[in-house]
Amino acid sequence: MPAKLILEDKTIELPIFVGTEGEKAVDVTKLRAETGYVTLDSGYMDTGACTSAITFLDGEQGILKYRGYSIEEIAEKSNFIEASYLVIHGRLPKEDELKKFQAKIASYDDVPQGIKEMIKIFPKDAHPMGILSSNMSALSAYYPDLLVQDLSPEQKETVMAQLMGQLKVMAAYAYRHQQGKEYIKSDKNLDYCSDFIYMMTGNKNVDKEVAKALDILLVLHVDHEQNCSTSTVRMVGSSKANMFATISAGIDALWGPLHGGANQAVLEMLEEIKDSGKGYKDFLAEVKDKNSGSRLMGFGHRVYKNFDPRAKIIKVACDSVLAKLGVQDPLLDIAKGLEEVALKDEYFVSRKLYPNVDFYSGIIYRALGIPTNMFTVMFAMGRLPGWMAQWKEMVEQPGFKICRPRQIYVGETTNKYKDIKSR
Ligand code: COA
Repeated sequence: MPAKLILEDKTIELPIFVGTEGEKAVDVTKLRAETGYVTLDSGYMDTGACTSAITFLDGEQGILKYRGYSIEEIAEKSNFIEASYLVIHGRLPKEDELKKFQAKIASYDDVPQGIKEMIKIFPKDAHPMGILSSNMSALSAYYPDLLVQDLSPEQKETVMAQLMGQLKVMAAYAYRHQQGKEYIKSDKNLDYCSDFIYMMTGNKNVDKEVAKALDILLVLHVDHEQNCSTSTVRMVGSSKANMFATISAGIDALWGPLHGGANQAVLEMLEEIKDSGKGYKDFLAEVKDKNSGSRLMGFGHRVYKNFDPRAKIIKVACDSVLAKLGVQDPLLDIAKGLEEVALKDEYFVSRKLYPNVDFYSGIIYRALGIPTNMFTVMFAMGRLPGWMAQWKEMVEQPGFKICRPRQIYVGETTNKYKDIKSR
């Protein structure tokens, strides 16, 4: 049954589109052509910008699935490289396919000399997300054969493995630069997360549980359907901009404190509470006051209005990693206290504000010795395969078009130009 829309004296029928999980959409693709009207939906709260077979999430019920597999099962049984293959290729790899994919990623164990030098010219206190997005964009200069409008299937495979390998290298190099230390060359014999920790710290005997905790964090970040950075990747990629520019834009979008930057903001908030000696109640009173301009970082989500399934998994991983490392972190106690009080507070309950993935991830990163301003970089490493899977899906979809939303103009209509002296 199509939807019926009454506009002035006319009734028009709009087709209903139903997804495989039963989500329903009113298809308005012909609305403007047939009526002259467009839809108005600031912040895209109710707009489905595409169809996608990669990730399903149900914010009301706290469900997240990659290619039909629940996030709980993937986090427990799979790993970051396999989950990346899954989202990119649409199915779990066979043993030899996984090995090949892993080896291809590991073969990109370095970046061009120019990129290494570029990292060094940044001030040591530069935010690594800025370094990373510049590096990513600058990589385009070194791979001109990948700048063609339409990549072949082999080129797509190559560039996706390349970026997974090289983003890890650039992230570790940015960290070493920040610390004023020499770069450490990647070790192909280590798994992805152990190698990353090795490149950051120089420690080759990475504890298996620590590497696993980091791997779980990356798995949880692999994809999250049409969030701000993924939509940015689709938007930029839709102009057929090259992969480096497209992913660089995704990194920039992720940087914001309302998106990927929230994990850093959570830690800063916990530190502020600790240093100021504020009690939870005082702090919560502050975030509930609209004039204060502050929010309880790590709480609330555009889509999850019940609980964030990733936060549940992280909370468990967080407890086990801290126990394993013997870390007593007062910030974790503050986080737990805040969570407990907030979850009983009418303000948060009535607005359906629950801890999100960022609430606990920062504590784990901190326990692993990763500095606060590298947290969002970790998120970018985790999200990269999702960005690429979404890009691949978009460019391979029949009838794909450049993304170009409309607007409703509300500005002046009849101004007349005045000479500068008479304004
Ligand atoms: N602390 C205090 N109040 C919050 C809040 C938070 N973290 N998140 C939302 N609210 C309040 C808003 O002030 C608003 O209140 P009102 O209805 O009285 O005006 C209401 O809850 C709805 O918020 P809104 O900003 O419209 O929700 P949204 O869906 O647009 O925003 C976020 C979602 C994630 C941007 C928002 O919850 C937020 O800023 N959270 C903190 C940052 C964060 O952790 N981001 C990571 C997301 S994974």
